Amino acid sequence: MTERTTTQTGTPVASDAHSLTAGANGVTALHDRYLVEKLAQFNRERIPERIVHAKGGGAFGEFVVTEDVSRFTKAAVFQPGATTETLQRFSSVAGEMGSPDTWRDVRGFSVKFYTTEGNYDIVGNNTPVFFIRDGIKFPDFIHSQKRLPGSGLRDADMQWDFWTLSPESAHQVTYVMGDRGLPRTWREMPGFGSHTYQWINADGERFWVKYHFTSNQGNSEMEGSEAEFIAGADADYYRRDLYEAIERGDFPSWDVHVQVMPYDDAKSYRFNPFDLTKVWPHADYPLIKVGTHTLNRNPENFFAQIEQAAFSPANTVPGIDISPDKMLMARVFSYPDAQRYRVGANFNQLPVNAPKAPVHNYSQDGAARHGFNPASTPVYAPNSFGGPTADAAAAGEGSWESDGDLVRSAATLHSEDSDFGQAGTLYREVFDAAAKERFLETITGGISGVTRPEIVERAIWYWTQVDAELGAALRANLASTSETANEAAEYVGVAE
Ligand code: HEM
Repeated sequence: MTERTTTQTGTPVASDAHSLTAGANGVTALHDRYLVEKLAQFNRERIPERIVHAKGGGAFGEFVVTEDVSRFTKAAVFQPGATTETLQRFSSVAGEMGSPDTWRDVRGFSVKFYTTEGNYDIVGNNTPVFFIRDGIKFPDFIHSQKRLPGSGLRDADMQWDFWTLSPESAHQVTYVMGDRGLPRTWREMPGFGSHTYQWINADGERFWVKYHFTSNQGNSEMEGSEAEFIAGADADYYRRDLYEAIERGDFPSWDVHVQVMPYDDAKSYRFNPFDLTKVWPHADYPLIKVGTHTLNRNPENFFAQIEQAAFSPANTVPGIDISPDKMLMARVFSYPDAQRYRVGANFNQLPVNAPKAPVHNYSQDGAARHGFNPASTPVYAPNSFGGPTADAAAAGEGSWESDGDLVRSAATLHSEDSDFGQAGTLYREVFDAAAKERFLETITGGISGVTRPEIVERAIWYWTQVDAELGAALRANLASTSETANEAAEYVGVAE
């Protein structure tokens, strides 16, 4: 039997087609409570989109530990044989909720592990580094990649102005302007935790780790012209690909690896290991396999399970902690703050965010509170009535030494801490000749959109620091591009 339509409070309603009116074609009665409820509820369907990474998609899955890394961490989620339910969300960074999936951008790669010790989130990207190394620059960086306040248009001048005034961006910009900026699908790209995290083993020994997710579908990219075509033809290309693959039982998976640095190496390593613009070459710290992550279940409701999903680098579990990376320290504040605003104060009580581990604490009330403690539970700590007690050993937190005056500066203490060195290595040693060609074409295209000569000149300087030959080729390319543009303009009679 078909269910009866009801109001939100469960009472049957008379019609989904006709409002209550005075006479068949007369004025509408304000006391049509169902009409009012339906319109009012509709007006509240949207919540703010994520301030970044607004466009995305995701699925549920399973993480299985296949190796033994218990010598590095006591976290239950990484113990041999452990199987943990997961949620993964992929995204692009700068575009809005309806923006095309195939615009050139970094792609987000977030995984929530519903572990027996609470939720553990790895909120990373498909690149191992980032544009900046201090969280105080993040809002400025994002403003420069989004839209002009007046016209509401994206703007090459501000993008390249910010990047070239922030030379620490060179490594990440090289990734994004290279093939990795246009993955063929989310399934065919790698994921990285990007930051350095801390692992703590059962004996209290500490290690620095970086996460790598390698796609079992292989890595595959698309060319700029194809991406542009798809951006117009099918804005939801990646979201559709993931959904359809899982629907047909073609479950994508990633092998999860870590690079592990002994705690004491950090001080003397050739790169600052907590600088998010740097990788650790595999020759220095090889990949160690941990297990496999597989996505095998589509969401039943996109809004409830993906839009309202709240990932945060602040969600750690015993045996895992953050590191003295200034970006990471800013992020652990930023995400739950964003989610209290975007979803509401009790966002962690929604089924998609709620941990599988029990929750006991002294927080209470707030908008849309759903869960609560039994009435006999004390509402303050300390108390004499057997309320929950904190336990430092169970928390398994990490730590690191820190001293010095409070300052606003960054010291270069490691021998190879230059802004451009690793970007140059990526360009020269990882890109093959064809990739280098495509890269030059992409940056030429991007910088051709810049109108201010001093920004163009700074962009040539920036790429010259990455690689002198690249800088020279870019200068020549830009000159011939602007000649062609001038000739075309003369032809149509608009040259100045
Ligand atoms: C989303 C802030 C750097 C990856 C977000 C959100 C905020 C944010 C506020 C929206 C959260 C939400 O509404 O649920 C920041 C700040 C950063 C930073 C302040 C620097 C200090 C990074 C870095 C990465 C990253 C370095 C990757 C290594 C992501 C991803 C998402 C996201 C993947 C989407 C999460 C999801 O799928 O829901 N970021 N972010 N962010 N960020 Fe960042």
